[in-house]
Amino acid sequence: MNNDDGSLEGVVAAHTVLSEVDGEAGRLVIRGHELDEIAQRWRYEDVVSLLFEGFFDTLPAASALRRALGRARREAFELLQPNDDAQLRRMPPIEAVRALMARLPDGDDLPTALRLVAAPAVYTAAVMRWRLGVPALAPDEALTHAADMLRMLHGRSPTPAQSAALDTYLVTVCDHGLNASTFAARVVASTGAGLASAVVAGVSALKGPLHGGAPGPVLDALDAIGTAANARAWLEQAVADGQRLMGFGHRIYRVRDPRADALKGALGRLGEEGSVNAARFALAEAAEQAALAILREKKPGRALETNVEFYTALLLEALGFGRESFTCVFAAGRVSGWVAHAREQVKKGRLIRPQSVYVGPAPEESGEAALAH
Ligand code: ACO
Repeated sequence: MNNDDGSLEGVVAAHTVLSEVDGEAGRLVIRGHELDEIAQRWRYEDVVSLLFEGFFDTLPAASALRRALGRARREAFELLQPNDDAQLRRMPPIEAVRALMARLPDGDDLPTALRLVAAPAVYTAAVMRWRLGVPALAPDEALTHAADMLRMLHGRSPTPAQSAALDTYLVTVCDHGLNASTFAARVVASTGAGLASAVVAGVSALKGPLHGGAPGPVLDALDAIGTAANARAWLEQAVADGQRLMGFGHRIYRVRDPRADALKGALGRLGEEGSVNAARFALAEAAEQAALAILREKKPGRALETNVEFYTALLLEALGFGRESFTCVFAAGRVSGWVAHAREQVKKGRLIRPQSVYVGPAPEESGEAALAH
């Protein structure tokens, strides 16, 4: 494999027990469980238990871990300071959440890990409320993580279907092989810096539009398209202008991303209780079909299919998250994967330190060049 392009495509940089991404078959396995099996039924706390198994000296049973995660939300909330709203409300939410996460104390133990898992949910809700000029709400330790995140955001208890839909989202994105943010977290963890440092690296990598920053622009595109009849012309023009269609394409998947179907299913279930705008859903389906047809035509042989971000955008919109917060909600799910990978890397006990090949000028050439000037 030629890696001159800097992508590390095809390079194996870790052996992991955490997840397997089969890009040819469109299959995601998380610690021995098919995504389909866990995405509809599991709560986020259950997947945290699954991912953390074997990476800490003691891990409480699932019910005790739920309570511990509730306490960790409170601890994360207590680290907020009186002026945070004024200072952070004008920042892009993911930068505000990253700034708050950077305050969490480093360490390698379970309490540190749970605070890190809890924090993005608490801080995303707080930041989004500050942007509306209303105060952050304290966590309710008795609720599930997903239900509490929605309550802290909206100030009212979610319906069971809304809470289940957010669980599906958080579980679906909890881990995904050696994606860019997980790799970043593992590199930092390998230096012995601590879990908080590894997670902040993960948040920073996730922020980019080629990774976790895509779903907001998916909605921007749907808004610009406006009607199903306009989808093909708009998308064709975008590709002709050299734009990437957000929510399509993936480094690993050569077929449809299985997470897209898990999220589309959750949207369907949410729609049954009337929480999804039917016209919006129909527009999205029309845009998806048009985009796939155009990509097959214009980029033959590239296997560009729908990725997780397309239906993420619709699901999070239906749950009342503002589009500027989508990357933060992604972080609230992926953080358990970052922590588990960081612990797995630390247990390997060696620093990640690959090599580079120098292709710059030799000293003599530089000297001659300098004399010529
Ligand atoms: N729309 C249009 N063209 C695309 C798209 C797209 N979404 N994705 C890739 N292509 C084209 C590229 O322009 C390139 O074409 P060319 O060879 O004619 O120049 C070709 O397909 C290959 O592109 P690469 O950049 O080599 O593909 P790579 O594997 O590096 O990219 C990526 C994967 C970054 C996800 C890309 O598909 C993309 O930018 N998609 C849009 C952003 C997005 O949806 N990101 C979320 C990904 S999922 C996640 O991270 C959670």
